[in-house]
Amino acid sequence: MHLIGRYALVGVTHFLCTGLALKVLSYILPCFLTCYYGCAAKFLMCAIVAQLTFGFTKKKFLSDKIQPDNRAVLITGCDSGFGLQLAKRLDKGGYHVFASCLNPNGPGADDLKKSCSKRLQIVEMDVTKDDSVKEAVNYVKDNLGTSELWAIVNNAGIQKGFITELTSIQDFKDTMEVNAFGPVRVTKGFLPLLRQSRGRVINIASLAGRISLPACAPYTMSKFACVAFSESLRYDLDVWGVRVISIEPEFFQTDMTKVENLRQRVDDTFASIDDDVREDYGKKFIEDFRARVNLMSASSKVYKVLNALELAISLEHPSLVYRPCRNCIVAVLYRIFEYSPKVMQLLMVKFYFYITGFPKPKEADNNL
Ligand SMILES: NC(=O)c1ccc[n+]([C@@H]2O[C@H](COP(=O)([O-])OP(=O)(O)OC[C@H]3O[C@@H](n4cnc5c(N)ncnc54)[C@H](OP(=O)(O)O)[C@@H]3O)[C@@H](O)[C@H]2O)c1
Repeated sequence: MHLIGRYALVGVTHFLCTGLALKVLSYILPCFLTCYYGCAAKFLMCAIVAQLTFGFTKKKFLSDKIQPDNRAVLITGCDSGFGLQLAKRLDKGGYHVFASCLNPNGPGADDLKKSCSKRLQIVEMDVTKDDSVKEAVNYVKDNLGTSELWAIVNNAGIQKGFITELTSIQDFKDTMEVNAFGPVRVTKGFLPLLRQSRGRVINIASLAGRISLPACAPYTMSKFACVAFSESLRYDLDVWGVRVISIEPEFFQTDMTKVENLRQRVDDTFASIDDDVREDYGKKFIEDFRARVNLMSASSKVYKVLNALELAISLEHPSLVYRPCRNCIVAVLYRIFEYSPKVMQLLMVKFYFYITGFPKPKEADNNL
């Protein structure tokens, strides 16, 4: 507390002195320079307001859609969640859908077979395996018929691991393998087809690809990597006319965010902790953490993610990044957090932990 108090005092004093120095500068600078600063400030304000409101103008004047006929879309991870729903929606919209499933005989694939048109084809694909991806690429090539591959949606994802010290290195590796290397492997496989159609790569990253989530290092690392992949790939593929679009949703209700699944993953993660570490964190901490794992309650408005995905696939002029969010207040709060200085972010997380009564490890105070 003493350290934080001193840090805050020095920070606030620095802030006030900077303000004072700028005020003094405005008196002693020649008039034409202060005018220049005034113009620069107005220009900056105009740029910010234009950026914030461009979405409305774009919706009104840049909403032309492409025709779905003879356009194929491949989606990974269609066994459940966003992938399953998107496959159904695109099939209804007239696209030729290749719904890739980890388990082509599982309930998700069965649901798709029953509820979709004959156009939709199930493809088996494990995004962590080179051979599986190669086979899927060959299957799509052989079954395109008169269609061209217009888009791939890298949707498959997992969430494993929580607090770093209580998470095995294997959980980190598994998460990176699916969420970060999976999109790279699949994109590389399908790029020759996408270059022919001048199509689209759509990567489902996450809010956790821009903001670090507390107690969720493996997933956050993998989604930051996924966002970085989209941004680098966009430069690489511009010359081929292939667009790269990043979809970055916040928390929505799917299998991944179901409380019982989260609790099961907490149990799996904590099962392999070393005894001495378990002792330092304490039984109560582990029980309380498990009980509060659903603090970030997920929104039921899954259609917001599906809408963003559909726009990314179908608009003539799609945005490069979509950030589906349950409402604008939550969206603004996330933006404020994202652009705050790191020390402010730390204070906000501490405050959040404090007001929500987030558990503290048994020995944490003793070590300060
Ligand atoms: N839900 C959210 O709040 C949220 C927020 C931001 C981003 N996302 C991202 O959105 C994407 C879809 O997640 P979701 O929420 O729809 O969760 P989900 O229902 O768990 O869907 C993930 C899908 O990926 C599949 N999958 C897992 N490992 C795979 C592999 N190695 N190869 C191929 N497929 C694999 C899963 O198959 P099984 O079911 O057979 O394991 C499942 O069908 C993920 O990338 C996730 O990170 C979700």
